[in-house]
Amino acid sequence: LQQFALGAAGGYTGRDAHLAFTTHLLECFGWKDGRPEGAEIPRLLAIADGGKHVEREVALWWAERRTLMEVAAHDAVLDFAWKDLVRVCLQLDPIPQYVVLTNQRDLQLYDLARDREAPRLAIRIDDLPRYSEAFPFFTKEWTPGAVPKIVNVEKVSEEVADLVARLYRSVHAEHTGREKDVIRFTLQCITAMFAEDIGLLPKNYFTSLLYNGAKSGDIERRLGELFTQMNTADLPAPRVVPYFNGGLFTDVVTLRLGDTQVRALTKAAEANWTYVDPHIFGSVFQGIMNDAERHASGAHYTAHDDIMRVVGPTIVEPWRKRIQVAASLKELTELRKQLFAFRVLDPACGSGNFLYVAFRELYRLDTELLSRMREFPSTAGKLSWNGGISTVNFYGIDINPFAVELAKVTLNIAKKIAFEERKAQAFALAGQVEMDIDPSLPLDNLDKNIVCADALFMDWPEVDAIVGNPPFLSGTKIRGELGDEYLQRMLEGFPSIEGRTDLCAYWFQRAHDRLSDSGKAGLVGTSGIRVGKTREASLDYIVEHGGTITNAVSSRVWPGESSVDVSMVNWVRGPADGPHPLIVDGETFLVDRIPTHLQLHADASETKDIVANAAGMAEGVSFGHAAFRSGGPKGFSLAPVRGKPFIRPVATGDDLLRGRLGTEPDYCIDLSSCLTEGEAKAAGGEAFDHLREHVYATVKGRADSGKETDHYKSWLRYWWKPHWGREEFFASVKDRSRLLVCPKVSSRSAFAFVSKLFVPTDTMKVFAFDDDYSFGVMQSRLHWEWTKAKGSRVRADIQYTVAVWRTLPWPQDPTDEQVGAVGGASQKLRQVRADLMEQNGWSLRALYQAAEVEGPHPLKDAQTELDEAVTAAYGMPPNQSPTTFLLELNQLVAEDEEQARKVRGPGLPEHLDPNDPRWTSADCIEPPKVEN
Ligand SMILES: C[S@@+](CC[C@H](N)C(=O)[O-])C[C@H]1O[C@@H](n2cnc3c(N)ncnc32)[C@H](O)[C@@H]1O
Repeated sequence: LQQFALGAAGGYTGRDAHLAFTTHLLECFGWKDGRPEGAEIPRLLAIADGGKHVEREVALWWAERRTLMEVAAHDAVLDFAWKDLVRVCLQLDPIPQYVVLTNQRDLQLYDLARDREAPRLAIRIDDLPRYSEAFPFFTKEWTPGAVPKIVNVEKVSEEVADLVARLYRSVHAEHTGREKDVIRFTLQCITAMFAEDIGLLPKNYFTSLLYNGAKSGDIERRLGELFTQMNTADLPAPRVVPYFNGGLFTDVVTLRLGDTQVRALTKAAEANWTYVDPHIFGSVFQGIMNDAERHASGAHYTAHDDIMRVVGPTIVEPWRKRIQVAASLKELTELRKQLFAFRVLDPACGSGNFLYVAFRELYRLDTELLSRMREFPSTAGKLSWNGGISTVNFYGIDINPFAVELAKVTLNIAKKIAFEERKAQAFALAGQVEMDIDPSLPLDNLDKNIVCADALFMDWPEVDAIVGNPPFLSGTKIRGELGDEYLQRMLEGFPSIEGRTDLCAYWFQRAHDRLSDSGKAGLVGTSGIRVGKTREASLDYIVEHGGTITNAVSSRVWPGESSVDVSMVNWVRGPADGPHPLIVDGETFLVDRIPTHLQLHADASETKDIVANAAGMAEGVSFGHAAFRSGGPKGFSLAPVRGKPFIRPVATGDDLLRGRLGTEPDYCIDLSSCLTEGEAKAAGGEAFDHLREHVYATVKGRADSGKETDHYKSWLRYWWKPHWGREEFFASVKDRSRLLVCPKVSSRSAFAFVSKLFVPTDTMKVFAFDDDYSFGVMQSRLHWEWTKAKGSRVRADIQYTVAVWRTLPWPQDPTDEQVGAVGGASQKLRQVRADLMEQNGWSLRALYQAAEVEGPHPLKDAQTELDEAVTAAYGMPPNQSPTTFLLELNQLVAEDEEQARKVRGPGLPEHLDPNDPRWTSADCIEPPKVEN
């Protein structure tokens, strides 16, 4: 496997690369020629794709072992490739259980019986030897049911970070006021614990020291002795503890440890640090340190894949291209020299996770270079395998002193791990044995490279690439969080940046200024860098100052932080030939130019509000108090009041999707037509008493507290009504025959008509139209695309906002026939939905999920018919993107309004008969009947 990893580093190229990769891998598991009986290499599969039957090749299909392998292109992002592959897998019979997906650099193993979304294992090809037991299904000894043995590095790293954090907190509590010493002591222990497991100290040296020290009660002395030896260059031979220093051990710190601390330290030392991934450990640990309340499992860190989305395009890909095109040994030798001199900066480096990954990747590039050089027979036996990638070419800046020290440790560990890997690879090739001088010790002193400073107000070192994840802080919070004085310094230091700009934008600007010509940078920012002032200060600044965006992820939910969306942007100072990959909603699009709003369509932030759309949409009712509703701790009991005129069913977005509206909706007390408290009491009886007990008490308390805004004072005057009853809107729709609604937050377009008996809550948007034409426009793909462009994101879902509605242009000149076609298609779509839900006992959500499979589906057909009808009504040209079309129309309609020309607003065109059955029907979701 070591040799295989080396071979893969050189890259299999050509049409049959995936087959060579597969057979060579299987050879490592003992199969002659890499072609076990029963394994089909490759295998053509007949599958349905987008409604058509197509053939799709995979590298390996081994039906008996239910194992499939796909070897994707070198530059494939595996997370995305998986989305495509899993659809293929689910169409096979039997469905494979183990699926190996690789791009020849990284490899992911999925176990479909356990999880269809997340891989069980995600490793670099170099790590294959360490993880060989994860692939029992490739081995000759395989027996059905053999389970892959997988060390969950992420979990181990998080657990160890948690243990160390507990140690830190415990020691800190014991030695208040000695923060610096506690930090240094903790880092010295971390280094020693890593060291004894990765071969820098004799195996178990540190752990045994703790055991023995605990017995003899002199742990501090022993630790002091160990750290002193680690700090002493010349000790008489034979020395057992090597010289470490690296700055960290210059001041040996030992602290008195109580029983609790000794226990915590011992537990951490007992963990197997071989499986601790420094980049996860570092950032999880930093997270806990910055926010002592945050538990490791809840802490988030930049995952390897996300780091690679900047390190890949900014550092790895350009280098790989250079290595691949180099034709002569001279060129390769020159490249290697340049690679050894390549400098990287992370100007907000935290625990050094980006630097760690960058270091490892440069090392891998060096391995690739060596592989290419070995193609030349004259190099036989002469190549120096010692890695020339040096930590001193890595620079970091962070304002947090603890993070800075941790980053230095992390980089030193990176060096050791890379060396061990390289050594194993070199031994695997006969004759390459000159690597026994381990350069890992003494540790590199990185005090000059990784510095504790404010990156906004210091000179950055000159480097070849800048990567990182600078801090996000919305412009409105900067003053509150960082203070007036700091804000003033920012304004003076960056006169071109106006207020209301996210903090991360300053890093984009500084990074661009620091790049030399053709220099590259890749940063993670909040998705706010795509809009408004923050975009002006970051991406617009870059492009206006000669930069070209070469690779970007438009927006992505930041793992672990539900409220944060991030964008990842890689750029070069100077021109760059396209096409450039732009990733939107997980799909990669190749475009000639990546615009600074990072979208595929025209810039949707430039829309204008359409006056004709000012009314027509509202949010449902916000009760403001749980006592209005049945169920829940403060809810009322339904049985005694069921059937009373003031008890009404409630429509929530979730119940609509879950199909509960027609069977078991929630109910509410609705006394909102009562103008006075007396009237409400007379009408509501015991329900009124229930509200009085709960709602009145709360509202009165809040209104009298003096702390709340005036809302509560005014609510107190009509407290038996919901806080926000949207009475004006509901009065405006009283003559409508039904209510058009959609969930406020949803992952898909799900419009429905509900009976007016329902009270839609604020989890719904309600529209003042009851005709099928309006339903059709709203349920169309055009409108959904518009909702995605203009709405806001809530995790992976979209929130229907006022901005979506106010800016939506409606068809301006539909013919009566076109309106009729939309109406007819709408009626049909709802009929198809109703029939399928009835036949299968599905909810609306289940129905849409069922229709997400490949190939034809009645719901898809009905939706396509509707989309075609709506497209025709709009007069949208074929081949134009809906968003681009609607944007242009938005501008035209807004301009017409400005010029006082007549425009067509939402709803059925006025000249049409609202009772015409072509666009008028009566179906809607009814609440369950109440028996009297
Ligand atoms: C989002 S974190 C990224 C850290 C690390 N790359 C990670 O993914 O965990 C941002 C880092 O910026 C640092 N930082 C905040 N303000 C800074 C400033 N003015 N100068 C330098 N670093 C700063 C923080 O201490 C933090 O470590």
